[in-house]
Amino acid sequence: MARRCCRLRNILICVCTPCVCLALLTIYIAVMVNLNMLHGTIVLDSRQGHHFVAHGTLKNANFASFPKTFWKHHLDGNALWNELQRAIDYSFNPILRPGQTKARSTRSNYEESLLRQSFSEVTSMDEMRKIFENFPAQIKEFVGYMQRRNYPILIQPDGVCGTVSKDEKESPLILLAIKTTEYNFKNRQAIRQTWGQVGWLVGHKDNRSSEEVVGGYVHRVFLLGKEDNGELSVDVSDLLKAESSHYGDILQWDFKDTFFNLTLKDVLFWSWLSNHCDHTHFVFKGDDDVFVNTPKLVTYLQDQLKKLRANNSLKDFMVGEVIQSGQPNRRKSSKYFLPETFYKGLYPLYAGGGGLVYSGLLAKRLHTVSKTVHLFPIDDVYVGMCMIRLNAAPVHNHAFLTFDFPEKEGEDLCSYHTILMVHKRSPEQITSLWADMHRTQKQCQAVPLRSVDKDSSSDKPTT
Ligand SMILES: *[C@@H]1O[C@H](CO)[C@@H](O)[C@H](O)[C@H]1NC(C)=O
Ligand SMILES: *[C@@H]1O[C@H](CO)[C@@H](O)[C@H](O)[C@H]1NC(C)=O
Ligand SMILES: *[C@@H]1O[C@H](CO)[C@@H](O)[C@H](O)[C@H]1NC(C)=O
Repeated sequence: MARRCCRLRNILICVCTPCVCLALLTIYIAVMVNLNMLHGTIVLDSRQGHHFVAHGTLKNANFASFPKTFWKHHLDGNALWNELQRAIDYSFNPILRPGQTKARSTRSNYEESLLRQSFSEVTSMDEMRKIFENFPAQIKEFVGYMQRRNYPILIQPDGVCGTVSKDEKESPLILLAIKTTEYNFKNRQAIRQTWGQVGWLVGHKDNRSSEEVVGGYVHRVFLLGKEDNGELSVDVSDLLKAESSHYGDILQWDFKDTFFNLTLKDVLFWSWLSNHCDHTHFVFKGDDDVFVNTPKLVTYLQDQLKKLRANNSLKDFMVGEVIQSGQPNRRKSSKYFLPETFYKGLYPLYAGGGGLVYSGLLAKRLHTVSKTVHLFPIDDVYVGMCMIRLNAAPVHNHAFLTFDFPEKEGEDLCSYHTILMVHKRSPEQITSLWADMHRTQKQCQAVPLRSVDKDSSSDKPTT
């Protein structure tokens, strides 16, 4: 009896040990893969900032620019942009194609050829051609030019880094980069005379001791395309040249300045910045109809600079009014309208384009990663798409009001002292607000920045 028992045990050991080992190995692999997908990101080369972000990292399961699972080649349903980007993301998937990701750093034209290749592959599919035919004219035009980014510079600042005051001893704290158009001279002038003045700016002191000097250099550059020179348009290019030689803050490229071309201002600006102004600590990027509380912004950014350097996260820093789970606008009459056949899914986390701040270091990384993201017609959403591919997220700050004050709050005496920026204000309003700010300086000296959300964030307009 005992002997039989012993034999049985031997058999069990012989048969089961390999099985158990194999099972454990399988479980281990499955757990590791899942962990990577759920929490992890696979950082390939942090020096270059190329990351692969596994789908599970995204909080929202409906977000569509990544395939649902990392091995899945085709997405459900057809949307042109999703299909185009899927081809690129697939190429940079290190689990499936470890070789490709290395090739990227050695071949400089690699990204460009990849964008072109995915574009011709996807647009030659019969379904996609049918989809294209049914696009509204504006989207058709966008798609027709979405491969092109190499527009020449027509006018640029003489000095490095936009308008510079003489004898600057340290790197600029903020470069103000303002989207504007040829005809908006009045907006530019209001900004130059008020919140956009360049040079050394003393920050807001709040309750600091009087010896402590908070300040920094502010630079300025305006970003423009070209006015559509249709038969009826008025040519103001000579005036713009004169303006440029007077103020030295004009950066203009040779593309048509339309709403769906705004993304070009981001990618071309990043490229310019990488070549001419890569030592600026921060970039404020905004519209020409915003009001900025520059003294408070200087203080805020000086504080951030210290903190971000201490925890080594300056390279990821972006702040603004963050929009979460934004839905593509499906109303045909809206200027934001995108049909479901163009883009499917929610938008990634993004900071409203009316006014936001990011670090110079992040701008350089955005420049690199943007070469692997197809242009998207809505500029701030595009920046969000680049951000997730860098495994970075914008930080929300209640002092950025891209949708204006919530009801009545703007009427308080000190309301403009509690914010860093607000959208939309006319040139006249900008000038009078700036004067008001100085008038109420004493009374409002100690008010802190807005920090609690007084409105519920659920009723944000969708873009
Ligand atoms: C300024 O006052 C606030 C509270 O009102 C306080 O939290 C902060 O530490 C003070 N700052 C300085 C530099 O004393
Ligand atoms: C963008 O600019 C290019 C170059 O000027 C132009 O051909 C194209 O039509 C513009 N795209 C849109 C959507 O307006
Ligand atoms: C680093 O500091 C900034 C500013 O205080 C903060 O927002 C951020 O969460 C910190 N990041 C890390 C990784 O601790």
